[in-house]
Amino acid sequence: MKILVLHGPNLNLLGSREPGVYGKVTLAEIDTAITALAGELGAEVEICQSNSEGALIDRIHAAAGSCHGILINPAAYTHTSVAIRDAIAAVALPAVEVHLSNIHCREEFRTRSFIAPVAVGQISGFGAESYLLGLRAIFNHIKKGLS
Ligand code: DQA
Repeated sequence: MKILVLHGPNLNLLGSREPGVYGKVTLAEIDTAITALAGELGAEVEICQSNSEGALIDRIHAAAGSCHGILINPAAYTHTSVAIRDAIAAVALPAVEVHLSNIHCREEFRTRSFIAPVAVGQISGFGAESYLLGLRAIFNHIKKGLS
């Protein structure tokens, strides 16, 4: 089983970016934890971070036919991107949306997700752990579909 893990804009700055909101963990540390959990589960992960909407969309398109599902933190594009939502719908791969912070208890504009309606589900508010919960969720969802 192969899962595409996508990190959206500004997540490359984790560790130094608003640590009061996002914690001090770096993206490299998150990726290491994701890779380790994937190994335990027996899944393969392809991990990509981009600050560009088009690059994220290109990776989603490329996942069709090569990946079984997507774990995505669309970051600020969560609240703005019809294009990323449409890309996920277009490839028809199951996706789980994750956020480090709880987007539902921050500014009003963050409570709206364009991605959630095309996702299997959303995990929000558990810091770096959101990614690991999300990986288990997408893994179990895909496994059910394969059996
Ligand atoms: C985020 C939440 C978004 O609102 C924000 O724009 C981010 C990070 C999170 O992981 O908590 O960049 O997706």
